[in-house]
Amino acid sequence: MAAIAPRPHPSLALEFCGLRLASPIVLLSGCVGFGEEYTRVEGFSNREVGAIVLKGTTLKPRLGNPLHRVTETPMGMINAIGLQNPGVDHVVKNILPTLDFGETRFIANVCGSTIDEYVEVTRRFDDSPIDAMEINISCPNVKEGGVQFGNYPEMSARVVAACRKVTKKPLITKLSPNQTDIGENARLCIEAGSDGLAVINTISGMAVDLKTRRPVIGNVQGGVSGPAIKPIALLKVRQVYEVAKPHRVPIIGQGGIACARSAAVSEGQRWNYQLPARCGHEISR
Ligand SMILES: Cc1cc2nc3c(=O)[nH]c(=O)nc-3n(C[C@H](O)[C@H](O)[C@H](O)COP(=O)(O)O)c2cc1C
Repeated sequence: MAAIAPRPHPSLALEFCGLRLASPIVLLSGCVGFGEEYTRVEGFSNREVGAIVLKGTTLKPRLGNPLHRVTETPMGMINAIGLQNPGVDHVVKNILPTLDFGETRFIANVCGSTIDEYVEVTRRFDDSPIDAMEINISCPNVKEGGVQFGNYPEMSARVVAACRKVTKKPLITKLSPNQTDIGENARLCIEAGSDGLAVINTISGMAVDLKTRRPVIGNVQGGVSGPAIKPIALLKVRQVYEVAKPHRVPIIGQGGIACARSAAVSEGQRWNYQLPARCGHEISR
């Protein structure tokens, strides 16, 4: 019989948007599928992290962008998955029942091309066991929605206010780094009813194939993630923190967290499957 993985050290437990998290380590949307992906890896357990954010989910299923969707960079990667997902009804009916909500907290990542779509996805997750919802207005890899909302503070606030009306569950807004004033955006999202903020999503970028002289990514542009973006993420988290602190609105800091030392200053992300446990262990020392 497999041994039950140890819980994070009790000193790591915290309150986040009214939820009790066993640890400040959060696995980010798009990096662990729908919460089941890492559980297939021997040596990893969902019990090691405070929360898991599921892959971005739209109202209808989406096939995602044309290939290539990912490419390496010297210190990270570029992705343009294009929000491939099976649609909210499939996630609620077929995936959520397979997750063990006793192991960790699960947060849905709500996406849409229109405000109505964001609202409908939020409504359907509201009527499910999900612990909280993250509104993704910051995906740089889709033609409609995403940063069309996230790069304009007033539009961001309209999405948040509309979703707020259909759920009492904690709402976290995931902010785009690809905008002029992330602090102003955070302020309007808080006023519109966001309980928490996630900072940052990927930064727009591209790669060129020197042989073909064509963009590597089928979508031409994608989102840069990994260690290269950590200094940018830190500054954006700081700018948002200055606005969020007086309102006591917490932030899930993210972007380039690849070791416990990074995680201790920003709260964060995994780089390999052992990182959450290692970060938790080292932060608690
Ligand atoms: C392959 C991939 C898919 C992603 N999919 C989503 C997504 O569906 N929704 C979302 O809000 N963020 C998504 N992200 C962004 C991550 O959640 C995270 O904000 C970003 O990668 C920065 O963190 P990192 O540098 O630690 O990877 C994705 C990132 C990657 C690399």
